[in-house]
Amino acid sequence: MVQKSASVCLLGGFLGLFLMAPVLMTSTPASMCTPLKTLNDSLSHRRRYMKHNFPINYSIRVYREEIFKLSNISRMRLKVEELDDLVLQRLWFQVNQGVLKKIIRVMSERHPSRSYTAELERRFKDVEGVFVQSHPAEVFQQELPEAVQETWDHLTEEPDRVQESNWRLVSPKSLVDNLCHTMYCLFSECFDTETRQNYCGVSHLRRGKKTSSRNTDTEPAE
Ligand SMILES: *[C@@H]1O[C@H](CO)[C@@H](O)[C@H](O)[C@H]1NC(C)=O
Ligand SMILES: *[C@@H]1O[C@H](CO)[C@@H](O)[C@H](O)[C@H]1NC(C)=O
Ligand SMILES: *[C@@H]1O[C@H](CO)[C@@H](O)[C@H](O)[C@H]1NC(C)=O
Repeated sequence: MVQKSASVCLLGGFLGLFLMAPVLMTSTPASMCTPLKTLNDSLSHRRRYMKHNFPINYSIRVYREEIFKLSNISRMRLKVEELDDLVLQRLWFQVNQGVLKKIIRVMSERHPSRSYTAELERRFKDVEGVFVQSHPAEVFQQELPEAVQETWDHLTEEPDRVQESNWRLVSPKSLVDNLCHTMYCLFSECFDTETRQNYCGVSHLRRGKKTSSRNTDTEPAE
């Protein structure tokens, strides 16, 4: 008897998870899709501008928390109960505005990728503008879950206060790949179903078993 109700409970839990998933995923205001697509257009040239125009194995110093990948998203969703996508979206903006700034900072005015990156940043800010406009201001004052707040605090730390062990060396291409892949996941309503499933769908959890051509976690060898 006890066993039976336990399994009913379990089943209920599973069903609940499945039913919740689509709800959690509809969190991008439609007005964001146009600027996101414009940003996506720029991102399609990232190999040329973020890789070919830089020396082989060139990397820049970033905070550990500025490495924000799909695996971070799935880990946070597991770790933080009822994590609102909006929180992850805020974190995405916070991380990537810093990342873009750091990439621009290493390029002289005449670097062949300079104007590309400046445009990328402009388009990123356009998306952010629409994001901020399309939510009530209170949303941005809401307390963050503890784990996210901790990450946030590290991200906003002054560089001279960051411990040596919290710096990472990462290639600009890999940083922009992270920006792009997590964008497909966190703003999935603006991208097509296939993109969504590849980057953030249920199939993401099963990817490990397949020999997927698109490894989400490491930079594709290209
Ligand atoms: C985003 O860009 C990729 C190419 O990098 C393209 O295949 C895809 O269709 C674009 N998605 C949208 C919604 O514009
Ligand atoms: C770049 O990094 C790879 C992998 O660490 C290494 O095998 C290769 O020799 C490096 N190339 C140069 C030019 O430093
Ligand atoms: C993503 O995960 C890596 C590896 O665990 C970690 O170092 C990094 O701080 C995480 N990034 C964020 C934004 O939490």
